[in-house]
Amino acid sequence: MQILILGASSNVGTALAEAFASGNTLILTGRNAVRLEAAAGICRTAGSANVKLVTADLARDLHPLFEELQRHPIDLIIDAASASSSKRDGEISADAFDSLVAADFLSKVQLLQRICQNQAAAPAVIFISTVLTLVKSPGRTVYTALKGLYETYLIKLGAARPGFYLLIVYIGIVIENKGDYEKPRRLASAVAKAFLDRRRSLLFGMSGRIYVGLFYVQPMIFNLLTLIQRKVRKLIAN
Ligand SMILES: NC(=O)c1ccc[n+]([C@@H]2O[C@H](COP(=O)([O-])OP(=O)(O)OC[C@H]3O[C@@H](n4cnc5c(N)ncnc54)[C@H](OP(=O)(O)O)[C@@H]3O)[C@@H](O)[C@H]2O)c1
Repeated sequence: MQILILGASSNVGTALAEAFASGNTLILTGRNAVRLEAAAGICRTAGSANVKLVTADLARDLHPLFEELQRHPIDLIIDAASASSSKRDGEISADAFDSLVAADFLSKVQLLQRICQNQAAAPAVIFISTVLTLVKSPGRTVYTALKGLYETYLIKLGAARPGFYLLIVYIGIVIENKGDYEKPRRLASAVAKAFLDRRRSLLFGMSGRIYVGLFYVQPMIFNLLTLIQRKVRKLIAN
């Protein structure tokens, strides 16, 4: 397979590239050339048939990527890129919105449209999202809105193109971008398995499951408390 990995320079992106490296051609992208080189080394050791690096800023200029993409059809996109993932709403100024929306949404749409124009079959997509999109996370509106918007676009694209395969991965733990490479590796191996099993979604991490569970149980507890309150009032009134 020819695989495009967006955000290959992060620990998560590198581990995903490594998990899909064996026998495949990889195009690793990101802005940080040094980290991309390191990721390429890991992928070669893991048995990649060929590794190409494209340094590109999704918020600015897609041409380096377009140039590379027109040479070969893409079978799979692994999308781990996010310009807003490390930013809480409070850290984002009004004039940063256009670049975040460009990097995390508009460029990705353009990229997929270009790839779909260039080849008959749409590529499969693995989109790395976050459990925070499933719950109403305070202070992360920008990040989760952009993830949710792109996810919705991918689902719409899937509905319009029969055979389009989409796996959405909701990460439900904190993974540091420095040091410990074990967590990203465990995530990547769970993603590779979910891809082989043709699953549509994957929620990775126990704390994420608990978070989602609490989020959905919360209205039930509220209803129960209201019910108890009403009964107690009725008893007192009688
Ligand atoms: N780490 C976690 O705990 C966690 C939890 C939930 C979800 N996630 C998701 O997992 C993915 C990886 O996150 P992370 O926290 O490990 O990494 P991160 O430090 O947020 O980096 C994200 C990746 O996106 C790339 N990127 C950012 N802005 C870009 C731009 N303008 N143009 C091109 N590439 C850009 C970065 O590459 P360059 O810096 O080289 O450009 C990097 O490879 C993200 O999609 C994130 O939302 C992570």
